[in-house]
Amino acid sequence: MEWKTRITELLGCRYPILEGAYGGIGTWKFAAAVADTGAFGLITASVYKTPDKLAEAIEKCRKATSGVFGVNLSFGICPRIDEMLEVCISHGVPVETAAYKPDALAGRIKASGVTWIHKSARIKDALHAERLGADAVIIVGLEGVGFKNPEQLPTLIAATMAKKTLKIPFVAAGGIGDASGFVGAMGMGADAIMMGTAFMATDECPLGKGAKEKIVRSNPLDPRLRHQVLAPPDPEAYRKVMEMRKGVPFDQWLRMLERVNLKYTSWQNDADPSGEYSFDEEWGEDGPSRIVSLAVGVLEKVIPVRDLVGTMVRGAEEILDKMALIRTV
Ligand SMILES: Cc1cc2nc3c(=O)[nH]c(=O)nc-3n(C[C@H](O)[C@H](O)[C@H](O)COP(=O)(O)O)c2cc1C
Repeated sequence: MEWKTRITELLGCRYPILEGAYGGIGTWKFAAAVADTGAFGLITASVYKTPDKLAEAIEKCRKATSGVFGVNLSFGICPRIDEMLEVCISHGVPVETAAYKPDALAGRIKASGVTWIHKSARIKDALHAERLGADAVIIVGLEGVGFKNPEQLPTLIAATMAKKTLKIPFVAAGGIGDASGFVGAMGMGADAIMMGTAFMATDECPLGKGAKEKIVRSNPLDPRLRHQVLAPPDPEAYRKVMEMRKGVPFDQWLRMLERVNLKYTSWQNDADPSGEYSFDEEWGEDGPSRIVSLAVGVLEKVIPVRDLVGTMVRGAEEILDKMALIRTV
């Protein structure tokens, strides 16, 4: 079956499946492996630290795959974000901005004409990005990980509301990791899905083997994981970080806010939360992985990325065939 949605049309990928961004591990090689499957690969600019290294990564990725990919620019995490954007513009690659409001880069992106997707946790911020001229938005529901927000809604409700309120195409993310989640999100009106956690449990993800095994072993019923992913932030820590908004540089403040939202007790550290894979230690060897979403509930084993995308697409097609049969009975 040919998968044609507003997102496959916009990005030119074969399937409406996007790779998530990853501080620390969103490399060009990983993006190329995802792009090779027909999904949309994503290089995370913060991994490359300087504009020159990002330019090199984009060129290597272009040589390595005939598939399509873009670059994630995360506010608060990506260093020299304006210069990183210039690299994306000069190489003509789609840009995914992430977190809160993208006002600081919007004008330059629009003037350049590169394809622009903004990712946010709140529908409010997605609507704001639409007004600024984004070509599409990604909405990460509560079940997901990264850039949490106290006003985040579960993926089911967020996607359904996004469909009603947004005019531009939208991508659903948060807790999706198999064919059922894929079809479910498309049924709610999404034009594509994005997966972060599920793509990490693949051979090509540049995480250690032990960390990947831990991801697939993680139990979504573990109260620590559920607390990290689902609970609102500690009100006292949240109040304190909001009070600090004007007193510290914006990037540093955003990182602290993210750590509060992820319930890290050491939220006042000035570190990139997504880079702290050593946080596994806090929960011990047998605890769940600290860096995943509730998508772990549908992951069974570490597999090649081609198998993940292939299984999801075939599984989705089977579900759609069954649904067509129900209609004709
Ligand atoms: C280890 C890890 C690091 C991440 N780092 C970033 C990041 O730097 N920037 C960003 O926009 N999103 C980041 N994310 C979020 C993902 O890009 C994606 O939005 C999220 O994983 C989707 O939810 P899911 O994991 O349930 O699929 C990260 C996710 C993980 C698991």
